[in-house]
Amino acid sequence: MKRVVYAKRGGLEAIEIIEEESPEPEKGEVLVEVHRAGINFADLMMRQGLYGAAPDFPFTPGYEVSGIVLKVGKNVEGCQVGDRVVALTGFGGYAQQVVVSEQRVWKIPDNVSFDMAAAMPVTYLTAHHMLVHLGNFRKGDSVLVHHAAGGVGTATAQLVKALGGGVIYGTSSASKSKFVEQQGMIHIPRGEDFVKRIKDEIGGVHHALDPVGGKHVMQSYKALRNGGRLYVFGASSAVKGPRRSLLTAIRMWKSTPKFDPIRMMNSNKSVYGVHMGRWEDQEVAKEQMIALAKMLEAGLINPVIDSVYRFEDVAEAQKHIHNRGNRGKVLLDFSPQ
Ligand SMILES: NC(=O)c1ccc[n+]([C@@H]2O[C@H](COP(=O)([O-])OP(=O)(O)OC[C@H]3O[C@@H](n4cnc5c(N)ncnc54)[C@H](OP(=O)(O)O)[C@@H]3O)[C@@H](O)[C@H]2O)c1
Repeated sequence: MKRVVYAKRGGLEAIEIIEEESPEPEKGEVLVEVHRAGINFADLMMRQGLYGAAPDFPFTPGYEVSGIVLKVGKNVEGCQVGDRVVALTGFGGYAQQVVVSEQRVWKIPDNVSFDMAAAMPVTYLTAHHMLVHLGNFRKGDSVLVHHAAGGVGTATAQLVKALGGGVIYGTSSASKSKFVEQQGMIHIPRGEDFVKRIKDEIGGVHHALDPVGGKHVMQSYKALRNGGRLYVFGASSAVKGPRRSLLTAIRMWKSTPKFDPIRMMNSNKSVYGVHMGRWEDQEVAKEQMIALAKMLEAGLINPVIDSVYRFEDVAEAQKHIHNRGNRGKVLLDFSPQ
């Protein structure tokens, strides 16, 4: 079987494809024949050595896959050989086959395609976790989301609508304006003063989702109304392009604000740091995955797929994201041909 490897820290040239024996599932594990693997922005950051939670090089990225169960280890009761499944792999998902704990594998209904299944876990779980688990989302709540046209951005817009939310502001590259509006958001082109626009129009949002980092975080905080919640869940401004720029990363880190909770009392605002890769309560994650699966089956959410690349073209797929070209989720096709 083949798998993608980040051989060393670096640009797109650090990506290699190797061939090796199929792995064997141990007790409580299943072996999945991967059909689709989701690409996340974090995969680009970890290739550049800018992602704290990543393993040492060389390693195989890939948080999420969909596919078919090929083998089950001892004591596996929840799934059988031949089941169509989606799995949260942690790492290792960019491969034709991957071994996963049974606890992180869910069967998918016949009407859900491998594309839809692989596009769902990270983006929707992250958005759901912020808004529902942490944010106590209420009907009519307003939301600001950045990278609105991307994976988490489009998932957020759908979830907010499904939850009966109010107005959603989405920032992204100016060229994606029409697309963002089609997703039900009010588009604000990147670079425009979103704080002023939101303050002028509605006084402030209930929830602001910031994956940018740096001084942008304070702007998102300012866009909140009294009692609003800010979720800081990324640091995309640490990335300049396919090649790592340490200076850009340091600038992002240094310009990220430090909050004073005593001052925050005056406006009742809250700030959450969110990293699903480091979330430890599996029960909470599982409950949310089940809730999302129900929403998917009911047609309340429907992942937006930008493109599907064959895994041999993984560097092209990541380049497309570096170039800010994607509208929705980018997937890798590992299906046998
Ligand atoms: N903490 C967590 O658990 C967690 C989980 C999932 C995702 N995230 C974070 O959420 C953000 C979105 O993730 P995603 O996987 O859904 O990706 P995505 O939004 O599909 O990412 C690609 C888009 O990000 C925007 N972007 C902003 N800065 C960029 C840069 N320096 N280089 C290239 N593109 C840039 C571009 O769109 P525009 O410029 O047009 O907006 C690009 O099209 C990322 O920061 C990611 O790390 C965090």
